[in-house]
Amino acid sequence: MTLPISEALYQAAKDAFSRAHAPYSQFHVGAAAQTESGEIVKGCNVENASYGLTVCAERNCISNAVVNGHTKFAVMAIYTEQEKLTPPCGACRQVIAEFFRPDTLIVATNHKRAFKAWQLQEILPDAFTPDDLINKD
Ligand code: THU
Repeated sequence: MTLPISEALYQAAKDAFSRAHAPYSQFHVGAAAQTESGEIVKGCNVENASYGLTVCAERNCISNAVVNGHTKFAVMAIYTEQEKLTPPCGACRQVIAEFFRPDTLIVATNHKRAFKAWQLQEILPDAFTPDDLINKD
């Protein structure tokens, strides 16, 4: 099956992967999101000597997008060079849910162009979202 993302998005995630700062885990991750208006934004994982301060590629990608004025997304790709494709961790799923519609595709891919794709709502059902903060009688 062919990848359900554009070549540009695949290459962006791969490029982000090449920038990963992962000297402790050696587990490099690149993420790239396409906005509803077609722009592509990237993020990589950035680890820290104080290990718990590590931030995943997906969350850095979203922060990078937000600071550049993007808050509406069509799709996100996650690139690793692992045989077993890398799904977003639980914390990233929650941050993705802040900005992505429940039916948005999240596509894990690798150097062999293998892929696995999920709708956000499949991997984070019944998400806590900004709508839950509205007080209703
Ligand atoms: N990591 C990500 O960047 N994204 C994921 O979805 C899973 C984990 C990073 C965090 C850490 O730098 C390394 O991978 C190993 O957990």
